Amino acid sequence: MKFLDVLAGGAAWPPPLWLMRQAGRYLPEYRAVREKAGDFVSLCLNPELAEEVTLQPIRKFGFDAAILFSDILILPMALGQGLRFAEGEGPRLPPLEDVGLLKPDRAAGIYAPVIETVGRVRQSLPKETALIGFAGGPATVACYMLDGQGGAFCRTKRLAYERPGFVREVLELLTGASVEYLSAQVSAGADCVMLFESWAGIFPPDQFREFVIKPTRIICDELKKRHPGVKIIGFPRLAGLMLGEYARGSGVDAVGLDSVTEIASARAVCPPGMALQGNLDPLLLKLGGQALEEAVKGLMEEVRGYPHILNLGHGITPDVPEAHVKRLVELVRQG
Ligand code: CP3
Repeated sequence: MKFLDVLAGGAAWPPPLWLMRQAGRYLPEYRAVREKAGDFVSLCLNPELAEEVTLQPIRKFGFDAAILFSDILILPMALGQGLRFAEGEGPRLPPLEDVGLLKPDRAAGIYAPVIETVGRVRQSLPKETALIGFAGGPATVACYMLDGQGGAFCRTKRLAYERPGFVREVLELLTGASVEYLSAQVSAGADCVMLFESWAGIFPPDQFREFVIKPTRIICDELKKRHPGVKIIGFPRLAGLMLGEYARGSGVDAVGLDSVTEIASARAVCPPGMALQGNLDPLLLKLGGQALEEAVKGLMEEVRGYPHILNLGHGITPDVPEAHVKRLVELVRQG
């Protein structure tokens, strides 16, 4: 599988391609299924419909990898924290006050439908298409659990200084739960997994080491012990100058780059031969035209001869025209 060969450090031309959030609201067929499911969480927990929306972007664009349709917040929900998605506003959880209220022993029963989706998708996917399982990085999931919503994560930031023991407890629980969750996905047929550490960049260096790198290391070590050879992509968004330490110290096999990180700079601080993923600015995919053409050509030149997975620097937005995605695929495939 070309995708897995690149993750293992081999260069491929043209590079493999997929897009973060490739299943989603920019696709009319996604909106139709979501309507049928009622709400977003019900869609994540419905294996038949979740399989369908996972496959939609593969059928339409022929990406090299499918990503399981679910969300990083399904894990805290399975651990017993409330979760709802307010229309047009994003996720809402009751801000966590006490780790003792979480029920790690019951989680697997609640996320079981997600694991079923993994098995179904692997059966349906073409053999040459990789299936990516995922979880949120513990620090990012903790941000949502502690603040109860996205934003500046002010409560999380304050707690990290004032009650670091509490934050550590949350992270330890999430780290263990993430190992079980990801391990179940690999056992069910995921070819590799990705850790979305989307808010890694809000932590200063010492907290970055403790809250981001350390839990990731534990997850990677344990997953590799249970599933020798399994590949893990880490996405420490906005890690800045901490990227090198993350790439060398966290145990991941590849790193996803955000759009503000220069690829040559990333290469200079990552272990030689480590696969990189990214990092087209999602705005370019919305804009299309000359700006997209030039950026894709530039990115392709930049990654030629290196192990690189072409992707965006963050998720595709709902306002992206399908024609622009088609053009991106064309530009990448023609090499
Ligand atoms: O296609 C895919 O990439 C697979 C599925 C996937 C979703 N979310 C589906 C989704 C994945 C991998 C995620 C990851 C995720 N979820 C992250 C990490 C990546 C990132 O974007 O930084 C985060 C932070 C979340 C939490 C989350 N989920 C937020 C903040 C939101 C609201 C913002 C928004 O886009 O609406 C979601 C909702 C969400 N997750 C949607 C989808 C398709 C939209 C739900 C809908 O249909 O209304």
